[in-house]
Amino acid sequence: MKEILNKKSEDYARKCLDKTLDLGLSFKLNSDVKQKVFDKSMLDKMIEVPVNGIELNKLLAKFEKEVIPYCSNFSSSNFMGFPDAGNSVAGISGAILADFLQQNLINSSFCAPIATYMEIAVITWFRELLGYKIKPIKSIWDVGGIITYGGTGSNVTAMLLARENYHSDTMTKGVFNPNKCKVIIPKGIGHYSIRSSLMWIGCGDNVIEVETENFKYNLKTLEKTLVENKGEVMCVVCYAGDSRTMTIDNFKEVHDLVKKIDKNIWLHADACHGFSLAFSKKLKNKISGIELFDSISTDPHKVLEIPYCVSALLIKDPQKFKLITSTSDLIMQEDFAWGQITPFIGSKSWVSLKIWFMMKNIGVKKIGEIIERRHKMALWLKDEIVKSKEFILLNDVSINSVVFMYVGDKEKIDNTKIDELNEMNLKIYNYLLNEGKYYLHKFTIPDNLGVIKKDAILVPLRYMSGNDNISKKNIKNMLNHVIDVSKKI
Ligand SMILES: Cc1ncc(COP(=O)(O)O)c(C=O)c1O
Repeated sequence: MKEILNKKSEDYARKCLDKTLDLGLSFKLNSDVKQKVFDKSMLDKMIEVPVNGIELNKLLAKFEKEVIPYCSNFSSSNFMGFPDAGNSVAGISGAILADFLQQNLINSSFCAPIATYMEIAVITWFRELLGYKIKPIKSIWDVGGIITYGGTGSNVTAMLLARENYHSDTMTKGVFNPNKCKVIIPKGIGHYSIRSSLMWIGCGDNVIEVETENFKYNLKTLEKTLVENKGEVMCVVCYAGDSRTMTIDNFKEVHDLVKKIDKNIWLHADACHGFSLAFSKKLKNKISGIELFDSISTDPHKVLEIPYCVSALLIKDPQKFKLITSTSDLIMQEDFAWGQITPFIGSKSWVSLKIWFMMKNIGVKKIGEIIERRHKMALWLKDEIVKSKEFILLNDVSINSVVFMYVGDKEKIDNTKIDELNEMNLKIYNYLLNEGKYYLHKFTIPDNLGVIKKDAILVPLRYMSGNDNISKKNIKNMLNHVIDVSKKI
């Protein structure tokens, strides 16, 4: 049976896998964001159960024609709105090899004898770069981090740690009073995964949003909120690069304030984006103080040239994972079985291998230079926007995100007509999405800097330079294209 890999099917498998690689590379190297726009009415045909199989070569040819043209190409130099293109060649090699090698990191001795230790190495590299202390590692309890399948997985595990840390025994007895499981996040820019996490882990919708100034906590309001809710706040979340503006909060100040009021509050840094700065000697100081936080979420698939999906949750005191462990005789009670400290995950593929390959291949120094280039490109666009007649800038560029709006003529903005401006930018976004030539992101955001009207809710466009194929010329062309589109609508 040639469909199943064995010695007899080797030649056939090699041919098909060569073709697979070829398709993947040709796709990534195509300049279009999307070649065709998918029509949802095609779903009816797609959901027919495939009773009789199709020979793989034919299936690949069909896939090339009928699926790939509809995929979004993050590698296109016109894709400017969302995280990383995942273009590390070594990272892609690691991703492919992980699927070939089929290790399961739930246990070490028989499922993942070397993979377990290579994953520990990756986590330890991250811990060291972010400034956490590294102690001798004699078991899984000394590592101080876990690999999850995404920033959301890391954030929910951090919330679980915060809950158990603040109210011991919720693991066995459950949550008695969700109102004492409050979590503070910055208003208007927090990632939804924190609120969702609280609901998933039985703490209810107990997020408190605190006012920000320039998208960072207003420390006075934070203090007042902490005092008013004393004994009921289990965690404060701070961003090193929030999803919208990529602003970095004042970690040291927030740490000192929170721990002065209640030292049991868990401090969580969502650094899914901003941890990348730790690779650059020049930019690292922007996240200083992050090492004081109890936990840090990182998302290599957003910022390190790594294909989806992989995240790492790091914690300051490795032993704290004991708070949330739950084991079974099906997980080996051995010193290095990851399954003992990875809530929500059973079988675990070797997703950290792509990080291992990328870091070994590019090295910290050069990765730092890549991160610096992304930052510089964003600063360059910021200057173009400030110089322009047609666009306004809505954030200070801290990492690689530029939040802007098309306003026609910025000398003539009418702040009583914000709905019209929002609608215009939404139309531009939808036009670009349907056209498939460029991609810029969009969301809602408070006008924290008071560019149009203080704290009015705006619907801007967002450039994000997590794509290293982008040049200044591409960016300039994008701005001109947006102006052209605005004239058409
Ligand atoms: C700041 C931040 N945290 C967490 C997440 C969730 O990450 P993931 O999509 O990998 O689950 C995101 C995703 O955009 C994010 O921007």
